[in-house]
Amino acid sequence: RSLKAFNTFAVESHAAYFAEAHDDQAVIEAIHEARRLDVPLWILGGGSNLVLTGNLDALVLHMTSRGIRIPEDDGQRVVIEAEAGEPWHPFVLRSLELGLAGLENLSLIPGTVGAAPIQNVGAYGVEIKDVFAGLTALDRQTGNLVEFDLASCEFAYRDSLFKRNAGRYVILRVRFVLRRTAALSLEYGPLGHWLQQHDIQSPTAMDVSRAVCSIRSEKLPDPQVLGNAGSFFKNPLIPQSTANALLARYPDLVAFPQGDGQVKLAAGWLIERAGWKGYREGDVGVHRLQALVLVNYGQASGRQILQLAEKIQADILERFGVQLEIEPNVV
Ligand code: EPU
Repeated sequence: RSLKAFNTFAVESHAAYFAEAHDDQAVIEAIHEARRLDVPLWILGGGSNLVLTGNLDALVLHMTSRGIRIPEDDGQRVVIEAEAGEPWHPFVLRSLELGLAGLENLSLIPGTVGAAPIQNVGAYGVEIKDVFAGLTALDRQTGNLVEFDLASCEFAYRDSLFKRNAGRYVILRVRFVLRRTAALSLEYGPLGHWLQQHDIQSPTAMDVSRAVCSIRSEKLPDPQVLGNAGSFFKNPLIPQSTANALLARYPDLVAFPQGDGQVKLAAGWLIERAGWKGYREGDVGVHRLQALVLVNYGQASGRQILQLAEKIQADILERFGVQLEIEPNVV
């Protein structure tokens, strides 16, 4: 089965076996089936954070479970639960239509609900962990259903227990705690700017969602049009002292102190400054509007994408002494 249509980089790759899971039972059956076939079971969500570098001698299980419900509602604080296979952005829109605030900054992120906690997706000042209520997963080691609360997911910047223990848990459904009265996060500069420009004085959560959609579409390529997996590198965390030395050389360096002696650098700035923005080599390239995004212009392979990534990493290390870490999962 070709996986080209199942990864947003639109890279060609074949799975030895392929199945879809509409419900918990199908996941359990797939675990047995993989054992019978003597191949690994490999869970696929929206394929939006993925670099496939070859064929997969595995049973690829595409999570297609659907369903959204509200298990708790005290009139103000509302817990909303969605099945892993729900596409993320339509789920966000649904929550907003229900009058619930909390997910608006995370609008238009590609992928599925079940994949979102794996890398603690985040954008425009909000991460999953900020609105996370819990999730239900299947532990493949024991075959049991396990409940995870916020602490047990060990969320960090683009990281979680699920990312570090890839393959152990299958996330089945995720819960978020949302509010009827919006406490909006407007700290991300361009967001406030957009609202001002559109003369929106007291924004609703829906307004913020519109702003996010507009800002995203301006800079981030639509995977339907141009293959990509969002940010290809994490924004690196470096010690304040190293950042100070860099700032002395590059006064316009984009650096955000984290309050713990660490500083987060904008990797996009480093890559642009090094001259890579808009660079193209065959069918792989660096997006011309956002240097943190690598793109597939057509027939690029996962390996070619990785080769370009490695060149960029080596160059950034040499110029700035900063090691960039690849953000999507490389398979
Ligand atoms: N910048 C440049 N040149 C570039 C890109 C960025 O100079 O080519 C500078 C910008 O001017 C800005 C700073 O870098 O001062 C930050 O840029 P931006 O706001 O575009 O965000 P980012 O740091 O590049 C991160 C996330 C995105 C998320 C945005 C907005 C990571 C790895 N990426 O990108 O997440 O949408 O912030 O919150 O943290 C993703 O993870 O796939 C993703 C798209």
